[in-house]
Amino acid sequence: MAVHVVDHPLIKHKLGLLRENSTSTSEFRQVANELGALLCYEATRNLPLKRRFVDGWAGKVEIEEIKGKKLTVVPILRAGLGLMEGVLTMIPSAKISVLGIFRNEKTLEPVEYYEKFATDMESRLSIILDPMLATGGSMIAAINILKKHGCQNICSLNIVCAPEGLEKIRALHPDVDIYTAAIDEKLNSNGYIIPGLGDAGDRIFGTR
Ligand code: PRP
Ligand code: URA
Repeated sequence: MAVHVVDHPLIKHKLGLLRENSTSTSEFRQVANELGALLCYEATRNLPLKRRFVDGWAGKVEIEEIKGKKLTVVPILRAGLGLMEGVLTMIPSAKISVLGIFRNEKTLEPVEYYEKFATDMESRLSIILDPMLATGGSMIAAINILKKHGCQNICSLNIVCAPEGLEKIRALHPDVDIYTAAIDEKLNSNGYIIPGLGDAGDRIFGTR
């Protein structure tokens, strides 16, 4: 597994806004989507291109376009929806495959409750969206489900990751690339990322 901590002043600035406890729900939503777009930009850096000729204003001109266009974004409900609009500004035609997973507050084990996938999952790049990667349980469950559907090309966009979760994913799914704004210090005894963002779902949906 490769972890790509995207090192960019815009990302650092926006992450700082999310860390601030006084940031309002509407600003948190806006900035989470902006980070989704920036992480997506980085995650799609190596998409294959093909060339073709089009009619330009001054005659034929050779252009490059993304080859195949087989791609799906996979928001993990609920908090993953907080990145989705931003990602879709970069890839408006992406198919959306929704995965409902929450973690049990006591055991911290992931519980799957919903899935609705695009067709042809085996031939698509799957881009998982979830702002938080803490123990890694939810991400591992998501990757297991995607692989069961035949997905071979999977990456993930996470605003903040904990080292503990990354270590588990490295061991179980070394083929999955992670794009993140930060690797934080640790998990606390309740499985929350320190310093982290708090409960990202609550902050995006205004339920805290
Ligand atoms: C949060 C977060 C991840 C998960 C991370 O979701 O959005 O999906 O926890 O924790 P883990 O790495 O320890 O599994 P949560 O279960 O709070 O659900 P929500 O998105 O519905 O708020
Ligand atoms: N889920 C969150 O929303 N935040 C954390 O810090 C850990 C899991």
